Amino acid sequence: MYRTATFYYFSGTGNTKALAEAAGEALSQQGTAITLRDVANHHEYCPAALIGVFFPVYCFGAPRIIVNFVRSLPPGEGKAAIVVANAAGTAGPAHAAVARALSQKGYHVKLADWVRMPNNYIVFSEADVDSKAAGIVAAGRAKVAELLAALGDAPSTLPHYSRFGPLALAHRMFLFGLNYMGRHYRANDACTGCGACVTMCPTQCIALDSDARPRWKAGCEHCMRCVNFCPEAAIEFGRFTKGKKRYTYWMDKTKGALRHESCS
Ligand SMILES: Cc1cc2nc3c(=O)[nH]c(=O)nc-3n(C[C@H](O)[C@H](O)[C@H](O)COP(=O)(O)O)c2cc1C
Ligand code: SF4
Ligand code: SF4
Repeated sequence: MYRTATFYYFSGTGNTKALAEAAGEALSQQGTAITLRDVANHHEYCPAALIGVFFPVYCFGAPRIIVNFVRSLPPGEGKAAIVVANAAGTAGPAHAAVARALSQKGYHVKLADWVRMPNNYIVFSEADVDSKAAGIVAAGRAKVAELLAALGDAPSTLPHYSRFGPLALAHRMFLFGLNYMGRHYRANDACTGCGACVTMCPTQCIALDSDARPRWKAGCEHCMRCVNFCPEAAIEFGRFTKGKKRYTYWMDKTKGALRHESCS
């Protein structure tokens, strides 16, 4: 159906990456050549007959890095696009907002939907334990494969979106709050100074100071990777994460998957 497709994604703790891969597998079975792109690693546009934008929902909207990526895309000129968000409970208007932004750029949005995935947000809620996460991930991957398999028949109607709705406003406040996020992280006494947080941060906004303690700089997306994947569970976000179980389902797999892929 599509000769080539490029799926762009941002993933804090691995869920979105798993969905982008499942979508890629589903389309490649139909003969499409797939390129997967982590927008945290490279921003350049890779031409293809179909583009996909995959992201975790952050406060009922897309992560800032995805919002900026969509803004940076060239005019769509009728090219086909899909939007797949994922959330632990409520996506709100997240997928509709990105679909509308793509449509305004001239993309023909064929699919805009969201899929439930495990919860990684341990600031205001509890993480899903690995055994429960496994079931949710399997169902999420199956749902995405189903959506992709039905792509040819899908009526391409844009979901309704109002930028003045209460959830859209909450998301705008979240984006504003990102400017102040860095100051709330700290490493507790369990920190060994191993530096894993520095290398795993997708936006390179952690540095070790002279006494091997992590310091947070500007640019944090609040993705929760460092908090959930620190091997000592030593990173706290204010008082909110103290004593809480971390979301570790993809812990080892995702760190190794942060690699640069060149545009072919
Ligand atoms: C900052 C932040 C905000 C979140 N906001 C929402 C939300 O509004 N609704 C929801 O259902 N899940 C929310 N979540 C949960 C994530 O969307 C969900 O766990 C997602 O699968 C994480 O994907 P990832 O592993 O690719 O980062 C939030 C997570 C983070 C880190
Ligand atoms: S990953 Fe954890 S233990 Fe290692 S330096 Fe960072 S905060 Fe410390
Ligand atoms: S500092 Fe932590 S939460 Fe912020 S972007 Fe880096 S890994 Fe994600």
